[in-house]
Amino acid sequence: MIEILNPTELARARESGALVAGILHTLRDRATAGTNLLDIDRWTREMIAAAGAQSCYVDYAPSFGRGPFGHYICTAVNDAVLHGMPYDYRLADGDLLTLDLAVSLDGIAADSAISFVVGGDRAADAGSGALIEVTERALAAGIAAAGPGARIGDLSHAIGTVLGGAGYPINTEFGGHGIGSTMHQDPHVANTGRPGRGYRLRPGLLLALEPWVMADTDELVTDADGWTLRSVTGCRTAHSEHTIAITDDGAEILTLPR
Ligand code: MF3
Ligand code: CO
Repeated sequence: MIEILNPTELARARESGALVAGILHTLRDRATAGTNLLDIDRWTREMIAAAGAQSCYVDYAPSFGRGPFGHYICTAVNDAVLHGMPYDYRLADGDLLTLDLAVSLDGIAADSAISFVVGGDRAADAGSGALIEVTERALAAGIAAAGPGARIGDLSHAIGTVLGGAGYPINTEFGGHGIGSTMHQDPHVANTGRPGRGYRLRPGLLLALEPWVMADTDELVTDADGWTLRSVTGCRTAHSEHTIAITDDGAEILTLPR
């Protein structure tokens, strides 16, 4: 099902997006060397509760994971890229960390992910900086292609042109998605595609765009936890995601900190 939000719902989506962005911003500051992934999960639970919001993850049990996720945020370190389940691990300087968070506030969900190098020094590992930069650029290109009348394939093509143009293999098993009263909805937004194809965007549609890459492979392997997806070669990975709303004249990014 594809949902089109009315102005009241869109106003709620803005609050939900700002909450997600604010939590990610706070966690980014706190995620320094020595921080345990389980502390990040607990802080996330506390911030969601303090805002009177609901986790989209804790009870989530889709076909691609084993049972309910049971945690409040995805924490993916280095070769982990998607659905990273928090576990007892202390971050080290130079780790490439992805935080992926979706919450629902007043019945509307927002979803965003950021990747960064712990300790803040992208330049310390040129490979990590390049991975992060390409997902951020691909996300910006996807957003720039979004607006009323554009087709999903236009966004996929814009994202894939950046990822592929930088020489990265593109995996199409997981990509972006519609979002609204639930976190994962139609339409699917693959991270590569053909322009002019697919669903035509309309004002009021919410999309989560989420380019992700692995340095030298397009093949994923699932951890023993049944959730965490890693690169099969053990190479580093990055992921950037925003929730956007299609407006009358373009697209509005909802998951920016205020
Ligand atoms: N937020 C993720 C996405 O970007 C989905 C995570 S599902 C979880 O679509 F259960 F692993 F948290
Ligand atoms: Co998402």
